[in-house]
Amino acid sequence: MKPLGKLRLGVNIDHVATVRNARGSQWPDPLRAALLAEAAGADGITAHLREDRRHIRDADIEALMAGIGLPLNFECAATPEMQTIALRHRPHAVCLVPEKRTERTTEGGLDVASDQNRLADFIHPLREAGCRVSMFISHDPAQIEASARIGAAVVELHTGLYSDLHSEGNFDAATAELTALQRGASLAHSLGLEVHAGHGLTFENVAPIAAIPQVMELNIGHFLIGEAIFTGLEDAILEMRRRMDQARA
Ligand code: PXP
Repeated sequence: MKPLGKLRLGVNIDHVATVRNARGSQWPDPLRAALLAEAAGADGITAHLREDRRHIRDADIEALMAGIGLPLNFECAATPEMQTIALRHRPHAVCLVPEKRTERTTEGGLDVASDQNRLADFIHPLREAGCRVSMFISHDPAQIEASARIGAAVVELHTGLYSDLHSEGNFDAATAELTALQRGASLAHSLGLEVHAGHGLTFENVAPIAAIPQVMELNIGHFLIGEAIFTGLEDAILEMRRRMDQARA
């Protein structure tokens, strides 16, 4: 199958806020990073407002909504508080993620299959408000089918396990995980869902994910912000873009 279209890059700027918050100051500014990402050719900005506000804060979402020209992908847990915030801002996309206070990062996918009725009710007003609702899920067919059933527009497939296996040098297991992601992308597309992917992606592991023909968008954060320390954010984004486009071709 030929790729469905140009692969978009969403740059996640959460960890600019992590560095800022480490000193309790105003620098570095996530909005400035978002504007730089925009200038470097990012197709969207992603920000995760966690319940504990450990990185992005409410004021950052306000500043991003007012300040960027790119679509904002607002990541949040499926809680009433976050729904209220999303409805106030009406970002281009709302990506629902599972959240645990004790985790360092989003560890697994959302369990849509076990929570279908609640999630269908939860996303209804977001859809009515014009937001593209996305479910951050594993490649499990049950989760993909449930996401389609409740009326999500998008699924973002969690690439964290694939990325971990790849960086540990466990290439056989990484290939098996990649195959499952490919099957998941194909199933999701056949059910009418737009397919995104993300978590743990780096220069070294991005190509096989970028080559999945049904995947339309990658959301990448931690690696790019880390790389920016050495090369600057613009170069980091340009190099990621180059590798994505090469894999796509
Ligand atoms: N997509 C989702 C839904 C996420 O929760 C995250 C992490 O916040 C990412 C993408 C980006 O992951 P990373 O920071 O590892 O690139």
